[in-house]
Amino acid sequence: MCGIVGYCGEKDAAGILVEGLKRLEYRGYDSSGISVGYNDKLSIIKKKGKISNLQAAVPSDMPGTFGIGHTRWATHGEVNDLNAHPHSDNSGKITIVHNGIIENYISIRKKLKDEGVKFITETDSEVIAQLVSKFYEGDLEKAVKEALKHLKGTYGIVAIHADEPNRLIGARNGSPLVLGIGEGEMFLASDVTAMISYTKQVVYMEDGDVVVVDKDGFRTTDIRDNERDKEISTVGWDVGEMEKEGYPTFMEKEIFEQPQAVLRGMKGRLDPDQGTAKLGGLNMTNRELRMVNRVIILAAGTSSYSAMTCAYLLEKIARIPASAELSSEIRYKNPIVDPGTLYFVVSQSGETADSLYAMRELQRKGATVLGICNVVGSTIPRESDGGVYIHSGPEIAVASTKAFTSQLTAMYLFSLIMARMRDMSISKGKAFVDALSMVPENINKVLEQNEYIKTIADKYADCHSFFFLGRGLTYPIALEGALKLKEISYIHAEGYTAGELKHGPIALINEVTPSVFLVPDDSLREKIISNMKEVKARKGPIIAVAVEGDTDVADIADEVIYVPKAHELMYPFSMVVALQVFAYHTAVALDRNVDQPRNLAKSVTVE
Ligand code: G6P
Repeated sequence: MCGIVGYCGEKDAAGILVEGLKRLEYRGYDSSGISVGYNDKLSIIKKKGKISNLQAAVPSDMPGTFGIGHTRWATHGEVNDLNAHPHSDNSGKITIVHNGIIENYISIRKKLKDEGVKFITETDSEVIAQLVSKFYEGDLEKAVKEALKHLKGTYGIVAIHADEPNRLIGARNGSPLVLGIGEGEMFLASDVTAMISYTKQVVYMEDGDVVVVDKDGFRTTDIRDNERDKEISTVGWDVGEMEKEGYPTFMEKEIFEQPQAVLRGMKGRLDPDQGTAKLGGLNMTNRELRMVNRVIILAAGTSSYSAMTCAYLLEKIARIPASAELSSEIRYKNPIVDPGTLYFVVSQSGETADSLYAMRELQRKGATVLGICNVVGSTIPRESDGGVYIHSGPEIAVASTKAFTSQLTAMYLFSLIMARMRDMSISKGKAFVDALSMVPENINKVLEQNEYIKTIADKYADCHSFFFLGRGLTYPIALEGALKLKEISYIHAEGYTAGELKHGPIALINEVTPSVFLVPDDSLREKIISNMKEVKARKGPIIAVAVEGDTDVADIADEVIYVPKAHELMYPFSMVVALQVFAYHTAVALDRNVDQPRNLAKSVTVE
């Protein structure tokens, strides 16, 4: 979703801002713009569409050593040059960029209009520039603070003034903002990716912070001028991880990174001798963990399917009632918070508004909520009561792949800990640890079939609709397979539990509607094979993902992708990778923009 970058220093700001915006492209956007200060003036350039449009409009010798930039993902007002940020006040001396939503913008706008202010955009954000202008009396910091007192809603903001060169004023309430500390230069951005090629020293802003940034320093207060102490953190990854490194797309790169990412997620956390695992950040004693009598896992999108897989697993191996809930639903359900229930929120970005607000609502009611997140320093891990970082490295493609398998890894470790405290014997625990250790190798074996899976994808890329069917632990994997296909290829795809097929969806089966069946060699295999036969009897094409050596499946299916034989609880890993590769090649065959699918954003920071 929207991205922010701000710069003050000694270099030409325009190039740095555009480069920062390019690094934020992955978040999803529909227009972009910059504003640069030079000689008591602010220049603004804004363009609809890709950043290349903006880049083409920015002169290569544009002067000015401070400025702000923005990628917009439209909420209020259509996608056009005018509605893109930065927004200016009527004097043209102040510009702002804003992420989030100003909920009371209509009343502010009306009031300011009555006072003679002219609005030129349809956005909610413009009121911020005009309000700051109203309160400006020679001190931008003061004016921003005064304006903030009138705003309701969420924001990450950066403002500049033509007469206060090399100064950025940032503020945060609900939308992320990070300060980057360089040598004689400073950055403010919605995430560290925008400035990682310049500095790894960062300060994560918190809600209520207002930060005044000059090229050599910064000061953080709240809107009432009370000082707020900040800690400087060091980003633990390199700019190289943000490059495609020879792959045609980030998505393909990230799919292929999974064996390493899963391995990293387990590193130092398995205890083979005791057949269990250790997770340092849970902030819960063994006694407290033993007293948990229910687990509820919240998440959105792809993360909700890893949550669902793990809820199945927890019930199965730890014998604890567990369920997954969509963050967007639980928040408004007025959830009943039982003291024995432990909550998790799973989020790659750690910023998804639905998940963050759901977490806060649960915490307000007394719940303990642990986070399973990837982006270090993001809001969910900072506000949760503990949790686990999945360490899968930066995920740039909008469609999530490696974060999914890394989330599974973290939740598998947690499930193992809970199981060993309850129902599971040491020998079963050891077998589970061995099986989990084999996962990276099993994923590799699926990736080795990349070319073969591509031939299947090419063959079916013209179909208009797909079903994805699994049961038990692979039911959420079927849902994720369908989501992946629709996100990046725009083909209609539905995931179902195979058991439900006969209760409705089978009406849609015909010669041109393929069904992708997941067939692990577990206790449900026979049932799934029966479901496959039901589809075949109606002439539906079948693509099966089955276990090496399962020739019965090959007799029924039109195509089979084999995954290596594994512990029956580990098939979600290898099978989801097969489905990711299939979706990827289907999208490529259709010439889609795989990394930045239409209408989607990587990190959805509005409700
Ligand atoms: C967006 C993204 C999805 C992602 C979902 C949840 O919809 O497009 O790929 O799965 O948000 O994101 P999170 O960062 O909370 O895992």
